[in-house]
Amino acid sequence: MTSRRIIIFFFCLSLNIVHAEEKPVVKSINDLKRLPSRIAFGSCSKQFKQQPILSKVVKKQPDLFIYLGDNIYADTYDMKVLRDKYQELGSKPEFQALRENVTVLSVWDDHDYGANDAGKEYPKKVESREIFFDFWQVPPKSPRRTRPGIYGSHEFSANEKRLQVILLDTRYFRDPLKRRDKDQSANASWKNDYQPDPDPQKTLLGAEQWKWLEQEFRKPADLRIVCSSIQFGHSYNGWESWTNLPNEQQHMFDLIKSTKANGVVFISGDVHWAEINKRQPKGHYPIYDVTASGLTEEWHNVEPSTFRIGEAYRDNHFGMFEIDWMTDKPSVTFNIIGLDGSIKLQHSTTLDALKFTN
Ligand SMILES: [Fe+2]
Repeated sequence: MTSRRIIIFFFCLSLNIVHAEEKPVVKSINDLKRLPSRIAFGSCSKQFKQQPILSKVVKKQPDLFIYLGDNIYADTYDMKVLRDKYQELGSKPEFQALRENVTVLSVWDDHDYGANDAGKEYPKKVESREIFFDFWQVPPKSPRRTRPGIYGSHEFSANEKRLQVILLDTRYFRDPLKRRDKDQSANASWKNDYQPDPDPQKTLLGAEQWKWLEQEFRKPADLRIVCSSIQFGHSYNGWESWTNLPNEQQHMFDLIKSTKANGVVFISGDVHWAEINKRQPKGHYPIYDVTASGLTEEWHNVEPSTFRIGEAYRDNHFGMFEIDWMTDKPSVTFNIIGLDGSIKLQHSTTLDALKFTN
């Protein structure tokens, strides 16, 4: 190669490098200065499918959109495949429009973590975590990058009103679940893939994340949106959820109570349908779990739940909280919105009703 050609080669190479590092303009979490009042969320989006639901999200002009996991279906041990599948989502015009217009936060579930129903044993979790942070443009100085897992929180406040968004990691530290014993057909209580495991040694969040969550719950907030990729508040149905580790689910209820954390509402995904569950163990205020899980997926054999308010919604949808901070009695309305832009499920509560009374 002549010296002139070498110079041209390195010049082109440098152009390629610059090109590879270019990122689309996105709304960063650091750009969101005001107290959000419209918070949309959803999960379960196959990157190879068109995603018209995202255009509906943009039209509603939420302040924030939270991805609750299974944001892509990677299911691989090959990190190039994982990266490529994120890129497939990233190249979609409807996804780019979402990122340009709405601040986006994200947690992962099993399929974007890397393997179906995977927990702490997934061998590529360290590498997958880096790819997750890079794709979702989690700022380099975010505390989320300083510790194992992807958990973290964001706080917003104005006029003495305070919102906390808590992003849980339900994968990185989770012990293996107990498979349903299919030979014990006499025990008809258990169905689908898993049965509850009473083993007190087993963890869902892991000791460090529990310690961190306790500190978060001790901070003042009027509303705390706790983002869990898997469902928290429904009845046991044999699919993955907090019901598979009942001690951990009880630990969550106990922690909310012992820290006197007002305003806790869960949002969750994973199951491909939408529903609103309401729990109220003794001595608690109502704990809602609003599931939105059908950005591209749908599910028609919806499992029953004794805690469900109204019906489930089975077709493509996203969730949206509308918070009225401005009145004497601030309130939040939980909405599930379908592909036609109309409200499919709705429930409202005052924030006063989400408080311990003593
Ligand atoms: Fe999942």
